[in-house]
Amino acid sequence: MQLKRFKPGMLPDYGLFNCDRLSAVREEVQYSLRCLPSPESFLPRVYNRNRNTVIAMSDIYEKIMDLAKRRGFIWPTSECYGSVAGFIDYGPLGSMMKRNIENAWRKFYIIQEGYYEIECPIIGQEDIFIASGHVKGFSDKMCQCPSCREFLRADHIAEAHGVTGASVLGTEDLARLICSLPCPACEEVLGPVEVFNFNLMFQTAIGPGSQRRGYLRPETAQGMFTDFQRLLRFYRDRLPFGAVQIGKSFRNEISPRQGMIRLREFTQAEAEIFVHPGEKDHPAFSRYEGYFVPLLSITRQEEDLPPVNCTMGEAVREGTIANQYVAYYLALTHQLLVSIGVNPDKLRFRQHLPDERAHYAEDCWDAEVFSDRFGWVETVGIADRTDYDLRAHERQSGERFSAFIPYDIPRKESRIRVTPDMGALGPRFRGEARAVAEALCASIPGPDGLTVTIGGKPVHITPDLYTVKEEISEVPGTDVVPHVIEPSYGIDRMIYAVLEHSYFEEMVDGEERRVLRLPPGIAPVQVAVLPLMNRDGLPEIAREIVDGAREEGVIAEYDDSGAIGRRYRRQDEVGTPFAITVDYETREDRTVTLRDRDSMRQVRVPVEGIGSLIRSLVEGRLSFAGL
Ligand code: GAP
Repeated sequence: MQLKRFKPGMLPDYGLFNCDRLSAVREEVQYSLRCLPSPESFLPRVYNRNRNTVIAMSDIYEKIMDLAKRRGFIWPTSECYGSVAGFIDYGPLGSMMKRNIENAWRKFYIIQEGYYEIECPIIGQEDIFIASGHVKGFSDKMCQCPSCREFLRADHIAEAHGVTGASVLGTEDLARLICSLPCPACEEVLGPVEVFNFNLMFQTAIGPGSQRRGYLRPETAQGMFTDFQRLLRFYRDRLPFGAVQIGKSFRNEISPRQGMIRLREFTQAEAEIFVHPGEKDHPAFSRYEGYFVPLLSITRQEEDLPPVNCTMGEAVREGTIANQYVAYYLALTHQLLVSIGVNPDKLRFRQHLPDERAHYAEDCWDAEVFSDRFGWVETVGIADRTDYDLRAHERQSGERFSAFIPYDIPRKESRIRVTPDMGALGPRFRGEARAVAEALCASIPGPDGLTVTIGGKPVHITPDLYTVKEEISEVPGTDVVPHVIEPSYGIDRMIYAVLEHSYFEEMVDGEERRVLRLPPGIAPVQVAVLPLMNRDGLPEIAREIVDGAREEGVIAEYDDSGAIGRRYRRQDEVGTPFAITVDYETREDRTVTLRDRDSMRQVRVPVEGIGSLIRSLVEGRLSFAGL
């Protein structure tokens, strides 16, 4: 299929979609929440390196994107009209893999952490984004190339030429910096260009003929903030609690030329954990206290040192990480990313430098994944956002965004009560008497009385106009505005990282094999069932095995076309961890060959119970070596 017309700003991304023809995808896939494996079972398996020679690879990005398109992982969107950069379609296998990754995420945040998932609209009214600061400040620095008219990210041009921290420079400084640099699209020197702020939100109007402005959400987080009071009640008015959301977010990126890394429509998985501002020790910190994470702290960045492996307990004790909550989610994120197939040697956690961290944030770290093509890519952000978001919505909406925290034992507090003598205030201040009384009640007068400002004028209130009494009262608790700990994941970037880190080329018996070593719980197809011949009753037995596996919640595919070796290679290429071959022996003794993708070893197992056997293998409760 040819990529057709395109206009500036709607350029198809040739890096991502350079394949002319999309092969027809015949795979039958099914998804079942029932077969979700435990977090441990996602861990990638060791494979037999002795037998295979791993080929050193170049152009890995092109190879992965070619595979992704050919085999139905990722496609250009609306290709028949000329694709628009920054948007992609997930094909049958890509959707399945995406859902598996989302469910691996759910395993951690919903099952392990016990947080509930919510679902809020994609379009939000303007007030939300005024409060959040997106209307005013969610912009990137843009310029237009005078030669080719392409719109460009000015800070990216500077960064590509070795300038660090370009995103925090002012527009004029950036313009000065880039004027001698070439345009990344046409390679002409830019010369004097104007750099201006471009707001990344997609704007829309709510309702026909309506003046009501809305925006496509640039993050899922705001839904959890605006629902705060309802969530608090749902969690029976107790802190800490968390709410999570997986959904689409939209950012009108200026020049999205990085395939799945920078999209205009992408999926986020975000957790907002509301904690008492004075209690930042995580109640289950012992789970990750001894867990090692590669940390690239501010100090190490300033001293140009590589990341260092550090336990979370140590990092908090030494003050590298601000508190146990942030450390807990750093470790959980490390465990999660490795469990879905991110190579731990290509993963680090980088602390935001003071000039890139939001002014209100107490601490902020990015989980960065190394890509052969893109270098270190931010994939997850973990931040202690303090009470910034809730206070912002409190101000904008006028509603209460605090939680009442009862004391264990009610506290006795002394209070000074000032009671105005209205009989005396009335004749003295006439029309202003009420305002004077209110000012009195809100203050504590001194021995000579109190001076307040009424109608712009100072007014002195003498002690004969009121009485002062000390009262002891019982206070049951206090109102606090919770702090928010936010781990925010980009699902599409996670998918790309897993594809890149799982892709191998190797020589096997003199033949090249391409294999995706996806963890079984992430693989879009978990078992392929292959009748050796397309006759003599073998297809019937194979279909019976497919049905049995599906009943067990295993994603199974039937494939009878081509030589058996080619069928194995086809499955290896899409990461199917197990293949079952039905042959003539099966008719005699009801046994089949079970093949392991990584070691390519084969064992003979009975047909009876094979569905639950595969399920145990996929869930990691059984290892192939143990068969
Ligand atoms: N609520 C916080 C927040 O949205 P962020 O760092 O802007 O923080 C979180 O986004 C994650 O979302 C990033 O780490 C990244 O993985 C993903 N993300 C952000 N912009 C993206 C884009 N244009 N395309 C793909 N993923 C993106």
